Amino acid sequence: MEEQFELHGLPGTQAEAELATLYARYAARRAAGAVSWETDLQAWGVYRYAEVKRVCMDWETFSSERATLREGPHRNLLDMDPPRHAALRRVLAKEFTPGTIARLEPRIRAITDELLAAALARGRFDVVADFAHPLPVTVIAEMLGVPASERPRYRRWAAAILAGEFAGRRQGTAPTPEAVAARAEMNAWFAEECRRPGRADQDDLLGALLSGRADGEPLTEAEVLAFCSLLLMAGHVTTVNLIANATFCLLRYPDQLALVERDRALVVDAVEEVLRFVGPAQDVVRVAAKPVTLGGIDIAEGQRVVAWLASASRDPRMFIDPDRFDVQRRPNPHLAFGLGVHFCLGAPLARLEARVALDALLDPLTRLRPCDADPPRLDADGTLLGISRLVLEGV
Ligand code: HEM
Repeated sequence: MEEQFELHGLPGTQAEAELATLYARYAARRAAGAVSWETDLQAWGVYRYAEVKRVCMDWETFSSERATLREGPHRNLLDMDPPRHAALRRVLAKEFTPGTIARLEPRIRAITDELLAAALARGRFDVVADFAHPLPVTVIAEMLGVPASERPRYRRWAAAILAGEFAGRRQGTAPTPEAVAARAEMNAWFAEECRRPGRADQDDLLGALLSGRADGEPLTEAEVLAFCSLLLMAGHVTTVNLIANATFCLLRYPDQLALVERDRALVVDAVEEVLRFVGPAQDVVRVAAKPVTLGGIDIAEGQRVVAWLASASRDPRMFIDPDRFDVQRRPNPHLAFGLGVHFCLGAPLARLEARVALDALLDPLTRLRPCDADPPRLDADGTLLGISRLVLEGV
């Protein structure tokens, strides 16, 4: 099948060029074959939709547990296979259903309005630092029941872990000492929080973890701490990127922005299209638990497999005109949240936050434009992809 190399982004900026290069590389890999050996990663790269989907769905063959590099006590859901994975996930599953999450909407709207009013009052602001970052971090801190005012501390941990743990994940290199230290500090901090008298009775996620049971037993302290860290980290990075990437896309494609402005119901579809077009999570990593043939390629037991969600979400075998940012695209079965047993637990929350944030931004966006003197920046460490700076000013 013909691959398309048509590229889009915020025209003329470095961020646009970097996005274009990244997605052209995915397209070239997809065209070359379903699965190919990546010398730099020493792993099999999977780029097409059907094969990426299979890697995500078949956890018995493609193990998360065997792929992890995190040390034992720091292991979270992402590092586990069923059955323990399922038992632990169930502890918080009902806290993250769309119905439960929907109840947070008024509070998310209030935080959004407050942040946006403060940013707009400044006249010139960074959508990422002043809006997209504080929103999800404040929300997840409140859900966990930890002080939102400690945001700088959470941000410091997240930065160290992202730089020293995530980046080495695909290559199979161990976390850096800085990342290990940040994890230890975060764990000690949460451990103190957990030991507060009556903490298990509080009506928040930490309370639910402390009073919850998996396989009929309370969670171990290590499991509680790892769960807390995962939730705090998830609130820090991916949703921030989603809101930032969405703002970037809507400014880059004014015709699409106009469509959403005219019909607010399209905000929901616009969020899905941003997830497909520039998803914050680019890949998932697994290790073959047994020999398997994937896309005609024989993979040996123990070999690492990197499944590129972002590439699958632009596969022309699945999406018509995949390099077109189209807020009216339906259906939109992108793989931005993964699939199968590890499907993103926080997806309903991320979707709600992004919808509320975009809805609030739409009116101001018509009076704002990207600041020429301070162009947008893209952060792409291979796993996460996000606009990391997007300064807007009044027109
Ligand atoms: C746009 C925002 C987000 C994106 C793109 C995203 C993406 C993902 C992806 C791709 C996975 C699957 C990883 C794998 O298969 O190995 C995942 C898992 C997970 N995500 Fe998210 N995520 C987002 C937001 C959130 C939020 C806001 C939370 C919670 C506050 C969250 C919590 C989790 C958890 C707990 C898992 C592990 C699920 C499991 O292993 O069973 N995510 N996410």
